[in-house]
Amino acid sequence: LDHCRFPAGTPDLTLLDLNPDPLKFAAHRLHRYTPRCVQADILEPLPDFVGSGFTSIAYNYVMHCLPEPPGGKQIVFKHLREALAPDGVLFGSTVLSQGVKHTALSRRFNILYQRQGSFHNQHDSVHGLHQALEEHFASHWIEVRGSVALFAARASQTTAPRRPGASLDPR
Ligand SMILES: C[S@@+](CC[C@H](N)C(=O)[O-])C[C@H]1O[C@@H](n2cnc3c(N)ncnc32)[C@H](O)[C@@H]1O
Repeated sequence: LDHCRFPAGTPDLTLLDLNPDPLKFAAHRLHRYTPRCVQADILEPLPDFVGSGFTSIAYNYVMHCLPEPPGGKQIVFKHLREALAPDGVLFGSTVLSQGVKHTALSRRFNILYQRQGSFHNQHDSVHGLHQALEEHFASHWIEVRGSVALFAARASQTTAPRRPGASLDPR
């Protein structure tokens, strides 16, 4: 985000994370945009105050960290889609284990991070990602590079409204 060129000169930026430390770090680095910070678990429905007017949501390298809840981690796409404005775009990246080509080195690190409990992507596949995005979005795109899937998905033009509201600032 620090290096990103935004289409608007003064983007309205919200950072969301489960943990306060990455929020503080990123908010400090992006200080010039005065980002709003939200501490929340994306495996749960997002708090109402997050709102629903986001024209884009970046979701990079988080999916492979998420443990599989009983209904499946694809529930996250429902929560994020609910925060998107009609026609809004979710884009991101994730390390997969199934349906991708790992090198000997990347496979070793993938397994190591799984054993350490940092990665929970044992069952994450290209096929599952397609299914999940298809279920929750009007259209989507996936490109696999090595063991990483890059993806983008567009919400339908009619999405259910959510209430806008206050923010939680960990600074
Ligand atoms: C590998 S980092 C990626 C951070 C950032 N998107 C980037 O590309 O640099 C994964 C982040 O996901 C956060 N995270 C893990 N589980 C989460 C959850 N259930 N809800 C929200 N954030 C979560 C972690 O705290 C961590 O900051």
